[in-house]
Amino acid sequence: MAKESQKEVRVFAPATVANVACGYDVLGFAIEEPGDEIVARFSGKPGLRIVAITGDEGKLPTAVEKNTAGVAAADLLKHLGMSDRGIELEIHKKMPFGSGLGSSAASAVGGAFAVNRLIGEPLTKKQLLPFAMAGEASADGAWHADNVGPCLLGGMVFIRSNQELDIAQLPVPENLWAAVVHPDIEILTKVAREILPKEIPLENATQQIGNLGGLLCGLMRGDYELISRSIHDVVAEPRRQKLIPDFYRAKRDALGAGALGFSISGAGPSVFALCEGEDVAKRVAAEVSRVFSEVPLGNQLYVSRINPLGVHEISAQ
Ligand code: HSE
Repeated sequence: MAKESQKEVRVFAPATVANVACGYDVLGFAIEEPGDEIVARFSGKPGLRIVAITGDEGKLPTAVEKNTAGVAAADLLKHLGMSDRGIELEIHKKMPFGSGLGSSAASAVGGAFAVNRLIGEPLTKKQLLPFAMAGEASADGAWHADNVGPCLLGGMVFIRSNQELDIAQLPVPENLWAAVVHPDIEILTKVAREILPKEIPLENATQQIGNLGGLLCGLMRGDYELISRSIHDVVAEPRRQKLIPDFYRAKRDALGAGALGFSISGAGPSVFALCEGEDVAKRVAAEVSRVFSEVPLGNQLYVSRINPLGVHEISAQ
């Protein structure tokens, strides 16, 4: 645990897959890689400052109030009555923006968690949720915890209410793996949200609720067949797939290679499959990567267990 005597804390905040097909805005899980690194250290100069950002191609603002990590950390310090405390932040982006991997959420979670560790951990991880959420909301204006929740707590996280921030970690079967592929295009979350229908037919709502219930039940029971039958999205995927070249070909080939289910990661363009076992996940990732390469689109593959840790400290001094 970080002590007040420590001067610097470096943390890793993982990428996340939001929605998990049928859980639009209410379900997400953390993966092992990629992720952002955030450093927080004490400084003699009063107030919070962002002193370095790398890996962002100059796109991110260093002004605290415009930066997701900055907003989250500043909100936390304000809540604790410590806004004058001299603290410096470094943000090292290790994943692309607009990737559907929860990039802004990772920075927000990393900012709040690093500062909380540095000052001696006055709050629990779960208590950091509203501050990380404020950081994430400063990026896309929307209020959904399906990236922030799993990034913070790790594992598979279900959100009963985004308004009340009532969230719970779910058990996952031991041999559940994720294959995630990020094609080299950018989709703005705002745009991907705007193309969704404002109303959905009752029949679709019923299907979506049935699948979400089935997925949660399958995860809790370790029933891979029930998980597989439940990974369907009749709300967001039919609209958003148009933004991802050859999405249905990738889906067909992923399922053909043995994936339990396949859909869009968050707002896209990354896609994910849940698989039973590492070998299947590797095969599925390779098939999906091949489809994108044939478009042609460069792409990155991540094969990972569901990351049980979430954000964590990687070094302190
Ligand atoms: N649930 C969100 C969406 C995740 O699908 O728009 C995006 O970060």
